[in-house]
Order: sequence, then structure tokens, then C-alpha cells
Amino acid sequence: MKTLLIVYHTGGVKTAQMAEAVARGARAEGGVNVILKRCADAGPEDLLAADGLILGTPENFGYMSGMMKDFLERVFYACEGKVNGRPWALVVSAGQDGSGAVNSVERIVTGLRLEKRAEPIIALKEVTPEILARCEELGAAFAAGLALGVF
Ligand SMILES: Cc1cc2nc3c(=O)[nH]c(=O)nc-3n(C[C@H](O)[C@H](O)[C@H](O)COP(=O)(O)O)c2cc1C
Repeated sequence: MKTLLIVYHTGGVKTAQMAEAVARGARAEGGVNVILKRCADAGPEDLLAADGLILGTPENFGYMSGMMKDFLERVFYACEGKVNGRPWALVVSAGQDGSGAVNSVERIVTGLRLEKRAEPIIALKEVTPEILARCEELGAAFAAGLALGVF
């Protein structure tokens, strides 16, 4: 069975709500092993064992959260060249922008040669039911793509 890894950081609750919605959608779709971890609890062994990756971060000071950067720093060289082509996507929670978080994560993950399979989902100010539904759809799409071998 393929494994979908969801790694997120939250300083409050919003990014956690988004990441949990992604996991809920993936588990409802079925056919994949879904692992949901906070950045602090995830490491290179998790990424190496995963067939797909969905990241979640708040935007802090126009960048990804420090904990997400720490995760990416810890996995980058351990995983470089070993995860090429695996699908990934991103969810972001922000006060009024989000682009700094998106750009900073994309720049690093591009270096890992992962393949972006969906446009980022950005929640501004509120994590609305519509945003949570989109997160669930993202999880379901990844689960289906991995289970069917489309990705
Ligand atoms: C230290 C700090 C810096 C922030 N910087 C930004 C920022 O640069 N741009 C932005 O749109 N929101 C910024 N915010 C707002 C958060 O991104 C927003 O509240 C987000 O929804 C928090 O998600 P969380 O509940 O998962 O921590 C900042 C919040 C904090 C605490």
C-alpha cells in the first residue's frame, strides 16, 4: 500500500485544521496509508518512506514557519536524489498574504525534485468550510492518485 505523508506546523490551530482535513479526505478515499505528523515529529525517514507529501504551514514574517524550515533543512540532504518525481502539494494559513510562505516552500521543494500536483490552498484570515472542503478534496485526490498509480 502506498503512503501519503502530511507534515505541518501550527502556531495556533488553523494550519492544523487544514492538515487534518487533508488527512480526513485521504482516509475517506481509502487505499493509502495516511501519516499525519507535526514538523517537529517528522524526519528524513518519514519522507523517504512516503510516496507522496503534503505540507502545511502558516505564513510567518513573509516566509514559511520556522518549524517548517527546520523540517526541510533536516530532510533536504538526506532525501536529495532519493525522492525525485514523487508528488507533493501545499496548504498555507495566513493573515493577509500567503505568497511568501508559498514561494519559500516551493523554492526548497523544487530542489528536492518533487513534482507539484496541485496549486497551493491558501486560507486568508479564516479557515472557512469551503477551505476545509478543498483540503479534503486535495487529500482524496492524492489518495486516489497514489492508489491508482496515476501519480
Ligand atoms: C509571528 C507571526 C508572524 C506572522 N506573519 C505573517 C505574515 O507575514 N503574513 C501573513 O499574511 N500573516 C502573518 N501572520 C499571521 C498568520 O499567518 C495567521 O494567523 C495564520 O492563520 C496562523 O496559522 P496557525 O493558526 O496555524 O498558526 C503571522 C503570525 C505570527 C504569529
